[in-house]
Order: sequence, then structure tokens, then C-alpha cells
Amino acid sequence: MRRPLVAGNWKMHGTRASVAELIEGLRHQVLPGDVDVAVFPTCLHVGQVVAGLEGGVIAVGAQNCAVESMPGALTGEVAASQLLDAGCSLVLVGHSERRLLLGDSDEVVVRKFAAAQACGLLPVLCLGETLAQREAGQTLEVVARQLSGVLEELGVGAFANAVIAYEPVWAIGTGLTASAQQAQEVHAAIRGQLAAENAEIAGGVRILYGGSVKAVNAVELFGMPDIDGGLIGGASLNADEFGAICRAAGN
Ligand code: 13P
Repeated sequence: MRRPLVAGNWKMHGTRASVAELIEGLRHQVLPGDVDVAVFPTCLHVGQVVAGLEGGVIAVGAQNCAVESMPGALTGEVAASQLLDAGCSLVLVGHSERRLLLGDSDEVVVRKFAAAQACGLLPVLCLGETLAQREAGQTLEVVARQLSGVLEELGVGAFANAVIAYEPVWAIGTGLTASAQQAQEVHAAIRGQLAAENAEIAGGVRILYGGSVKAVNAVELFGMPDIDGGLIGGASLNADEFGAICRAAGN
């Protein structure tokens, strides 16, 4: 049985004051004991969040890491080993905002995934199609290609210690959510692609859905057989709403 994970991607939001408020709100949430919970603040706020959530059950992750795992001359970047040192246990790789707006190619995504794993961070590999690709009927092909980038380079074994997040680009921040059936179809295809290589690893990997998840639609999405939790953007900036989404993933 896969243990659900609900993760909040705070994106480029937050000031020290608003982050302190969010930490306080999160500390007061009643969280289900059978769900893993994580938040991904900006790098700037990782230290504050790690300290503020110390002693609790919420893990902290980063939204990105460098292609090199160890510190070095790479201005403006943060190494996975530094994230680990700062108290992170996870890192997002391949978020569509980075792929589409910041030029993270499939090759860069593979290197970041490998750098994260080399340091013991859990990579959360984000996959998803654009609206044009969905309308052209290319969803499964696009997602399969993004997944095979990592699969071919690092092998299926890499997914024994990784999480996948399916996030259709057209559903991110738009209020448009994939229906539970649309999401399930893609999640099943992702798991099937991994199962063709190793059924046990495919059966164990958690595949999160992301894209306009809120407390009101979370229950139906999380009820699908291949949806193992969510990657939450906007709604994760509200502690009560995020707490409710976490509870929706519990049994
Ligand atoms: P929203 O929940 O705001 O649509 O964002 C989803 C997302 O991109 C999480 O990584």
C-alpha cells in the first residue's frame, strides 16, 4: 500500500512575515497520521521553515537544485548537498514553470534528478502536457517522453527512491482541474511505463496530481487508484486549506 504524500509548492511567494504566519498556521493543523506532508518554500525561506517546523511531521523541500550535486563555482545556484545540509529532504525537479519559462530541458532535468539522489534527497519529478498538446491528443506521448528521459539515463531503479507528480500545464494556477478520470488515465499510463521495466518499483512509486487542487476537489482525485496525493500550489499558501487537503488524503 502506498502512503499518500501531500506537498505544498509555495513557488516564488512569501516574505519573512508571511512565512512566519504560514508556519504558525501549519503547526496548528490536525494532520492525518497515514499521510506524508511536505512544503517547498523558496530557497531563501528554507532555513526559517526548517526551524519553524522543527519537531513536527512536515518535511521541507526545495523547488530546484543545481545540476551539480556538490558545492562549486556555479553562481546563483544551490547544490543538492547544500539543501540537505539546510534541512531539506526533498526537491522538485522538472516543474513546468522551470521547463517552459526557465529553460530546464529534459537533459537538465535528468542531471538535477541524479544530483538530488546522489545526496539522498528525494526527487519529485514533475511531468505534464500543455493545453495545445492535450488538444492535439498528445498527452500520453508527451508525458511518456518526459518520463523516459530519466528512465533511459538512470534506469528504473532510480524510481525506487523518487516521487512523480503529474501536473497538466493547463490546470496549473488556472482553476481548471483535470477531472479525476483524466488524471487517473495519465497516472495509470505513467505507472504502466514503469511496470514494463519493473512491476515492484512501479507498484511502490507515488504519483501525485497537481493543478488547481483544493479541498473541494481533493477527495475525488485522491480516491482514484493511481493518484497517491497531490502537489499543491496556490491552495498551499493557506494553512487551513492545505490542512484540509492533507486530511482529504487520509483514510
Ligand atoms: P496550483 O495548485 O496553483 O494550480 O499549482 C500547481 C502546481 O504547479 C504545484 O507545483
